[in-house]
Amino acid sequence: MLENYLNTHKDRFLSELFEWLRIPSISADSNYKGDVLRAAEFLSQKLKDAGADNVEICATEGHPIVYGEKIIGKNLPTVLVYGHYDVQPADPIELWTTPAFEPNVRDGYIYARGSCDDKGQTYMHVKAFEMMMKNSALPCNVKFMIEGEEEVGSKNLETYVKNNVEKLKADIILISDTSIIANDVPSINVGLRGLSYMEVEVTGPNRDLHSGIYGGAVANPINVLCEMITKLKDSNEHITIPHFYDKVVELSANERAEMATTPFDLDDYKAELDLSDIHGEKGYTTLERTSTRPTLDVNGIWGGYTGEGSKTVIASKAYAKISMRLVPNQSAQEISDLFADYFRKLAPPSVKVKVAYHHGGEPYLTSTESVPYQAAKMAFHKTFGKNPIPTRGGGSIPIVAMFKKVLGLESIMMGFGLDSDAIHSPDERYGLFNYYKGIETIPYFFQYYADLVKKEAVPVAANS
Ligand code: BES
Ligand code: MN
Ligand code: MN
Repeated sequence: MLENYLNTHKDRFLSELFEWLRIPSISADSNYKGDVLRAAEFLSQKLKDAGADNVEICATEGHPIVYGEKIIGKNLPTVLVYGHYDVQPADPIELWTTPAFEPNVRDGYIYARGSCDDKGQTYMHVKAFEMMMKNSALPCNVKFMIEGEEEVGSKNLETYVKNNVEKLKADIILISDTSIIANDVPSINVGLRGLSYMEVEVTGPNRDLHSGIYGGAVANPINVLCEMITKLKDSNEHITIPHFYDKVVELSANERAEMATTPFDLDDYKAELDLSDIHGEKGYTTLERTSTRPTLDVNGIWGGYTGEGSKTVIASKAYAKISMRLVPNQSAQEISDLFADYFRKLAPPSVKVKVAYHHGGEPYLTSTESVPYQAAKMAFHKTFGKNPIPTRGGGSIPIVAMFKKVLGLESIMMGFGLDSDAIHSPDERYGLFNYYKGIETIPYFFQYYADLVKKEAVPVAANS
């Protein structure tokens, strides 16, 4: 029945998503504040059209949160769907084959900023909900909480969640904002890395200097910054910050063996990125490096003269943005403090250093034994014809650990993207296959989850 509905409404499901993708809801750039709001309004209208009640656009100090719900029975379980309608900036825009906010389909992929991360994946839930509503097939309660600030750290969502614990009462959180291994290798994400994002400033002389008159006699803050960054890792790509690894949970030999069975082709991996070799922490596989190990990366570095031609100058200041991905049981606050202490100690007396903390989030790991995981596994089996592999994602959704802490709820990360979808990059895309597969799979999750919860609640009659 639902398949018929999906087939009949396929084209509209796509054209509606296109309409949403045309709104440049870039949360990081205040010039787009009006567009972010328009994207929230679009979503709230579509939730209403699909049959949600109490739909609101909840204003925050930043961008709004869209809430909606359908409560059909007090004794039924409640699924809280989380997603984000904000997107990353489109730069560098000149590298897009077609403009970032003019969605179009090429070779079976929807190309647009947000097509995968996360408007396309969030919209699957809106359409799955519509399908269940129009076919009287919603088996439990559902609440939607879709935010507009995920890409900038979810600060205001945290406040919103803390202030609305009662309203957000649910049994499980469902999120599609991660990837599967391949279209014929389904997987469910059971882990996310945490994040600690820092910015550093190194100051040498009190003004930019002529590099001939002063060069060789005063510290060049750009050179010094580079030396300091180099000292953050040793030749094995091991992070040198004292106590950095103290709380890292090492995988058991069994867990590592299991992870090694995950399909992964190193040659494909290198070819896709046009790399002649890979690079990373000694003693770990690529999959381990990108999911179970912490990292430290410079995201941007600047200072001095970078304009056209040349200018002979010793800059007064140099800057870098440095992020660390964290794994269980590291804490973002502790790691940020350890970084700040160590970075200050690395500075020679010839410069001054400032370290600032941008934002962060805790790592997350959930069980494959839980009822909702079983439901998600069954749903994938139903639509992909095989069992999903549990994986740990390298990315971060900081709010997920916060949900656990504040609401006491686990999250099921049923993402349908591919790592090759170029999220945050030019030519971000999302497969039509993935979009429709998501819409098809989500109602099965609801159905199996409601069934499993009901079964658990029924006392075993036989012996009573
Ligand atoms: N959806 C991503 C996170 C993600 C992608 C997790 C793929 C697992 C697999 C999310 O929108 C994102 O980009 N998160 C940011 C963190 C945020 C605080 C800016 C990240 O991971 O860099
Ligand atoms: Mn996302
Ligand atoms: Mn993102």
